Parts: sequence; C-alpha cells; structure tokens
Amino acid sequence: MKLPEIPKKLSIELDNEPGAYFWCACGKSKNQPYCDGSHADSGLRPIRREVDEAKKIAWCGCKNAQNKPFCNDSHRKR
Ligand code: FES
Repeated sequence: MKLPEIPKKLSIELDNEPGAYFWCACGKSKNQPYCDGSHADSGLRPIRREVDEAKKIAWCGCKNAQNKPFCNDSHRKR
C-alpha cells in the first residue's frame, strides 16, 4: 500500500462554494488540500467530493483522517 506524504499536521479550513472538489490524497500537491496532478507516480488518486452549499470545510491536511477528505481530528493521534 502506498503511503501519502504529510503536507500539514492540522486541518486546512476553507470557505467553499458549491461545486466539485478533488482532494489531494498523495500529499504532493502544491495547492493543498486540492489535487494539482502531482500524484502521477504516487499510485494514489484524488478523492472527488461535491459541495452542495457554501460552507466552511475542514479538509484533512495530515492525510490520515478516517473519513477522508474531511478532518476528524485523526492528526491528534499521530
Ligand atoms: S496531487 Fe495529490 S492526489 Fe493529485
């Protein structure tokens, strides 16, 4: 199993508009928490999520959340 890089040890909180988002699962993106295509050789793929209304989202930054792509405080257990 491929392991992701860990770009942040905390969540990444953003105000998101409705739409489709591609969360970076490999940790290599320079545009965290979103995929920028850097996963090409990682064996990992982004996770797509639809946001149906404008809201603040705590995206997982440690890549270890149990409910990826969202933070569930798993970073506190590392
Ligand atoms: S850059 Fe990380 S999943 Fe695409």
